[in-house]
Amino acid sequence: MEKRTEPALSPLLLAMRGVVKTFGRSTAVDGIDLDVPERAFLTLLGPSGCGKTTVLRMIAGFETPDSGDMRLDNTPLVDVPPERRPVNTVFQSYALFPHLTVNENVAFSLKLRGGVPDMAARVRRALDAVHMADFGDRYPHQLSGGQQQRVAVARAIIAEPRLLLLDEPLSALDRKMRGHLQIELKALQRRLGIAFVYVTHDQEEAFALSDVVVVMNKGRIAQKADPQTIYSRPADSFVADFIGNSTLVKGQVRERHGDMATIETPLGNVTAPVADGLAAGDPAVLVIRPELLSVHGEGTTTLIGTVGNCVFQGERSMIEADVAGVALRFAAEAPYSIGSSVPLWLDAGRSFITRVAT
Ligand SMILES: Nc1ncnc2c1ncn2[C@@H]1O[C@H](COP(=O)(O)OP(=O)(O)O)[C@@H](O)[C@H]1O
Ligand SMILES: [Mg+2]
Repeated sequence: MEKRTEPALSPLLLAMRGVVKTFGRSTAVDGIDLDVPERAFLTLLGPSGCGKTTVLRMIAGFETPDSGDMRLDNTPLVDVPPERRPVNTVFQSYALFPHLTVNENVAFSLKLRGGVPDMAARVRRALDAVHMADFGDRYPHQLSGGQQQRVAVARAIIAEPRLLLLDEPLSALDRKMRGHLQIELKALQRRLGIAFVYVTHDQEEAFALSDVVVVMNKGRIAQKADPQTIYSRPADSFVADFIGNSTLVKGQVRERHGDMATIETPLGNVTAPVADGLAAGDPAVLVIRPELLSVHGEGTTTLIGTVGNCVFQGERSMIEADVAGVALRFAAEAPYSIGSSVPLWLDAGRSFITRVAT
């Protein structure tokens, strides 16, 4: 039996319990429990509208929960006004003041607090941290998108918050810049040693950055785990579908033995690791990640597919092959022609049987 251990946790910084937020008749956040340890990089991941921003806004104090409990350092948070919370936010839009220089933008949050004697040195340190120290005299319109977002991060860290909230901070940037800034943000978070709660709808970004990924679906938490667990053992079919290119095959659990079960599917009976709580007779989904299908004879279960689609992606091609009405997705080095027959080996022991999302 594979033992799954939680990452070693630092003391708890933020705890949310049973938090609900409605707007009129719609429930944006539907009873979530969330723990943010000190120094953690935690990411809220989910499709647009699932409640990610609302969670951040409640932590920042811009929204008040309808019910539930929120604590920072075990002290109730709900009655603390936003400006007294040791929390700062970086938004998707850079939100810099256009008529202030970079230095003035970064100094702004300290000025709001009445200023500090070593202001210039602190501005310089904050800009240094994001590699922008040479740009202090420029105005926002003289900077690229990536540079503006670096300044926004400097402005958010200068008051030394305990917790930094980032709401899709890189989503307006092109792919290459996003990659650079992901690496910088992760390094910055380690260096500063403060907790980040990061929001994204991009699963690659969530995996690249996070200690803990929290997948949200319709205002609820679908799964909370380290990236590897989310990837290889998705808690339900929603998570499995959202996080990758996996093929989801519907079926029914035939029998279960400890951590393994046999599922009856249109592909035949497949024996694989199974999610907790699933028992014989339950409807379930077999999750087949693309890398578990091989055209080179590696694996336990042999299938014959008919190529229905082939997308050339450069270093590899993504192929969809039909087996018994199931479109199996996998990668191959060479493209295949549509309609050709392809033998496929499935590494069933690394696939996963999970529950059907509600
Ligand atoms: N101020 C608001 N008034 C009314 N509805 C809102 C408000 N803020 C968010 N919502 C609704 O709550 C749900 C969750 O929104 P949000 O937290 O912004 O999701 P996400 O950030 O995951 O895209 C959505 O259905 C959205 O329309
Ligand atoms: Mg949002």
